[in-house]
Amino acid sequence: MSEKKFSILPAHVGVIMDGNGRWAKNRGLPRQMGHIEGAKTFRRIGEYAGNLGVKHISFYAFSTENWARPEEEVNAIMKLFGDYLQEAEERLQENLEKGIRLRFLGDRSRLTPELAAAMDYLENSTKDMTKVNLNLAVNYGGQQEILHSVKNIAEDVLSGKIKPDEITLETIGNGLYTEEQPPVDLVIRPSGEQRLSNFLLWQSAYAEFWYSDVLWPDFSEEDFDEALRAYEKRNRRFGGV
Ligand code: FPP
Repeated sequence: MSEKKFSILPAHVGVIMDGNGRWAKNRGLPRQMGHIEGAKTFRRIGEYAGNLGVKHISFYAFSTENWARPEEEVNAIMKLFGDYLQEAEERLQENLEKGIRLRFLGDRSRLTPELAAAMDYLENSTKDMTKVNLNLAVNYGGQQEILHSVKNIAEDVLSGKIKPDEITLETIGNGLYTEEQPPVDLVIRPSGEQRLSNFLLWQSAYAEFWYSDVLWPDFSEEDFDEALRAYEKRNRRFGGV
């Protein structure tokens, strides 16, 4: 597939995978079925974005607030996540050949040790890849991420490693889960909602937003193209004129 399909590509796309529950409800199915379909869409769109030449893409799978959902639903999402990790391990060689670097954004201390170990392993094994950077946010909250970075900086101030005056935007940004990755240029949110929901707050400071009524399990490659076409037409000023 040619990268020329678009004249400008966002360096980093954030995707809020919303609408799984409604997709299932519309079909009289349990919510979990929507997540199963949503996980398939995640794989499809992740691969498509990489083939188009999008270098960084972040998907929001589970927020720090999502623990409030019924246990059965939380367990179903964690199971899907575990399946994905297992598949990524099995396909590690293939992913390395494609130059895919995997990162998992979020606090893994509340996840099972098995999930956390698989996440560490995959991040470590793919850390030298540079072609496609695929991030999956699990037990992620943007405010919590900033807090985490600020606490680490406070420790560095306490130990004398850095002076308060030397703290810059980069100091905070480099302490986030996305570390040196570029800021988010485009946030895609399907399913009709128009909010950021604590997703990549710092990284999306100047992001363009694109919304759609399509529910995530139905989200297609054509929908992704439509978002990129809308992005191409945006006049980004970054606070200038
Ligand atoms: C939001 O839709 C979706 C989630 C909270 C979960 C997203 C999870 C997945 C797509 C699968 C996770 C697995 C992998 C491999 C990433 P919603 O349930 O809030 O939908 P609703 O607003 O229609 O109820």
